[in-house]
Amino acid sequence: MSTGTETTGTASAGLRGVVAAQSSIGDVNGEQGILIYQGYDIHDLAQHSTFEEVIFLLWNGRLPKQDELEALTADIRANYAVPAEILAGMKYMPKDANPMDVVRTCVSALDFYDKDGRKTDRDSAMRSAIKLTGQIGTIAAAWDRIRNAKDPVTPDASLSIAENFLYMLRGAKPDAEEAKMFDIALILHADHELNASTFTTRVVAGTLAGMYGCITAGIAALAGPLHGGANTAVMKMLIEIGELDNVDAWVEKALEEKRKIMGIGHAVYKTEDPRATWLRKFSKQMADKTGESKWFEMSQRIEKLMHDKKGMYPNVDFYSASTYYLMGIALDMYTPIFAVSRISGWTGHVLEQYANNKLIRPRAEYVGPRDLKYVPIAER
Ligand code: COA
Repeated sequence: MSTGTETTGTASAGLRGVVAAQSSIGDVNGEQGILIYQGYDIHDLAQHSTFEEVIFLLWNGRLPKQDELEALTADIRANYAVPAEILAGMKYMPKDANPMDVVRTCVSALDFYDKDGRKTDRDSAMRSAIKLTGQIGTIAAAWDRIRNAKDPVTPDASLSIAENFLYMLRGAKPDAEEAKMFDIALILHADHELNASTFTTRVVAGTLAGMYGCITAGIAALAGPLHGGANTAVMKMLIEIGELDNVDAWVEKALEEKRKIMGIGHAVYKTEDPRATWLRKFSKQMADKTGESKWFEMSQRIEKLMHDKKGMYPNVDFYSASTYYLMGIALDMYTPIFAVSRISGWTGHVLEQYANNKLIRPRAEYVGPRDLKYVPIAER
């Protein structure tokens, strides 16, 4: 016998169109291709802001004054270092472990070193958010070094999150052009309303579990190929296609076989994803900078074919792939980079959920049998 409210065949596949939370953090207008953070258009933020300023905005609902921005920046930088035990533990992990699994595991373990990690009042949870925002990039970059038998690079507190991440990853400080592109890429990935991983963090926060548990769950959700994992899949696809001349036949065959073209399509945007506008520009910029233009040209051709044949548009992952590739970043690090940015949105949503919490507990539409008679195991 079921209990509670009966469902009547109304379950929405994938919860499409279901409004599951109130939030002032970000909003996506899928019809018009508009993304806003706390009321500000993503294009304005990409053009004028910095990732650190956007973090303040997402957490506090307004742009910071100069001294507030300096204070938050200093707090985050003071937390770039991760406990030595975490780095030591990483050295024992299998070298072929996926970086998202390593980041997820280490973020979960960071909880041990934060006495506020399980507190859900705003001040405590904010302190954990600052720590995590400072540390997640250090973990991701350290793993890429450790698995390649290199020593992790000690974070440099004189650098921004974007500069410091590229520095720790590559062992050399980025030039101003790459640092700016990367900073904007972090702004573009910071929040996206109730996407799968953010929803996950809110569901966990709704139980009043601590910040680290929420973010660990968010990282797990982001790792899937239909979510943050798509950027790596895009680059694998480009490498598989190999040359511009192969694109048409490859896409045609993939569509015939009903394979999805990675980085194309979006659950909400029915027009150009505004983040893709910037990343297309960066992919071109990196192509010009490095003289390796084929990845950009192939991407452009795929974009055109998918638009003409299917009326579909690229999403955030499509051009970030070739941008990061030409920055010399390993393919499987693209999704951790997404996490280095999205930590800001996730933590913002967790703070928002804690501030006005209600346990998130939807119903399922039961479609299984009822009233079956129990048969003892020997008689089955
Ligand atoms: N390539 C080819 N066909 C695609 C496609 C793609 N990238 N994305 C969607 N379609 C097709 C589906 O095959 C389906 O066709 P059908 O109706 O003939 O079966 C139709 O479009 C609807 O697809 P569906 O997956 O149900 O839509 P959605 O709104 O759930 O899809 C995504 C959103 C993002 C999951 C989907 O577009 C996708 O898988 N894209 C590739 C992965 C990706 O880039 N993810 C990152 C998202 S930011």
